[in-house]
Formats: sequence, C-alpha cells, structure tokens
Amino acid sequence: MNESYQRLIEGNKRFSMSKKFEDPLYFKKLSLGQKPDYLWIGCSDSRVPANEVTNTESGEIFVHRNIANLVVHTDMNLLSVLEYAVKFLEVKHIIVCGHYGCGGIRAAMSNELHGFVDNWLRNIKDVYNKNTVELEAISDIDKRTDRLTELNVIEQLRNLAKTTIVQEAWKTRQLHLHGWVYGINSGLITDLSIIHDGTEDIEPIYRFNVIKG
Ligand code: CO
Repeated sequence: MNESYQRLIEGNKRFSMSKKFEDPLYFKKLSLGQKPDYLWIGCSDSRVPANEVTNTESGEIFVHRNIANLVVHTDMNLLSVLEYAVKFLEVKHIIVCGHYGCGGIRAAMSNELHGFVDNWLRNIKDVYNKNTVELEAISDIDKRTDRLTELNVIEQLRNLAKTTIVQEAWKTRQLHLHGWVYGINSGLITDLSIIHDGTEDIEPIYRFNVIKG
C-alpha cells in the first residue's frame, strides 16, 4: 500500500482514539445531528481548513469550498449548500473567507491560459474590471493582488445578499454575512468589517419583494 495514503488511515485511528479519550461520548453526541451556527464559504486551498484556522470542532461549521471562494448565482452546488444551511440548519452567520496568496486570484490577474478553470476565474476578472482604477493605482503587484483578494470577498458577499435564499431569510430573522481574509503566512484572519444584514446594502434592482411568512 502507498505509504503516504496509508498515513491518512493511521491518522484517522489516532484522531478517533484521542477524541474518545478526551470525551468517551464525543462521537455519540455528534451522531445525534448537527446544529452549526456558521456557514463557511472558503477557498479549496489545502492551507485554509475552516475548523483548524478557527480552532473549532466537528459540528460547528457547515462548509462549502471552491477555487477562490466564489459565490456564483448559477452554481447549483453553492445554492444547494446555501439553502440547506440557511433554511434547515438556520445558521446565524455566513462567512466568506478568502486568503492572501490565493493562486486563483493570481491566475485571474494574469493573461495566461490555465485551462477550464479560466472560465471559473472569469468571475474574478469581472471584480478586477469593476475596480480597475483602484487596483491599477497600486504599483506593487503583491499589494495589488492582496487588494483584489479583499475586493473579491466583498463582491462575493454582495452576491450572497442578492440570492433569493438569503433575502427570504432576512424577512423573518437575522442572518449576518461577513467577509474575512486569512493570512497563510501569519495564520491570522482579518475581518474586513463588512456586514450585510439586509437588502439596503444592495442596489434596488436586486431586491426581491419577499412575502413575510
Ligand atoms: Co485560494
């Protein structure tokens, strides 16, 4: 058997044993169901695992990850996760967490052809194009990339606010959307302090007449 593959199975045994050692009922309690307060929309990057970077446990965060943490309004995968998290799990917070040093952001900023993924990254090119004046005023390419990383998170929050799912939830309860950026080189999260709590943050054309019910 491939050694690096086997390492994961061995690691799982140690994980299971240590959790049971700390709390013999740990898995029994988890098996009863989940009631996470948070939905995490993050990058697929292997260095940004939601639970580890927030020091949380299994059962605390419902997670969706894709390349460059995008909220694309026609993405059935994202919309299904979002609906389940908001309607059934009734999460209180949705966090879009980007990260500095994101390969997806860097790729989107170049004119190189990378493959199929360029069609996905087109969403980030649109964010760049929307903010050309601000971004091109930053001459340092790393700083410009960092800023696009932040602007991308902000745009994805707006995309969340424009969904019928989030707007329907807002009619009956509180639901907070937060934008974060994780620093791979520091291990620290920067809260961009942008919170969407209602449709007043988005342009009128995107606001639905949701019936309170
Ligand atoms: Co990334």
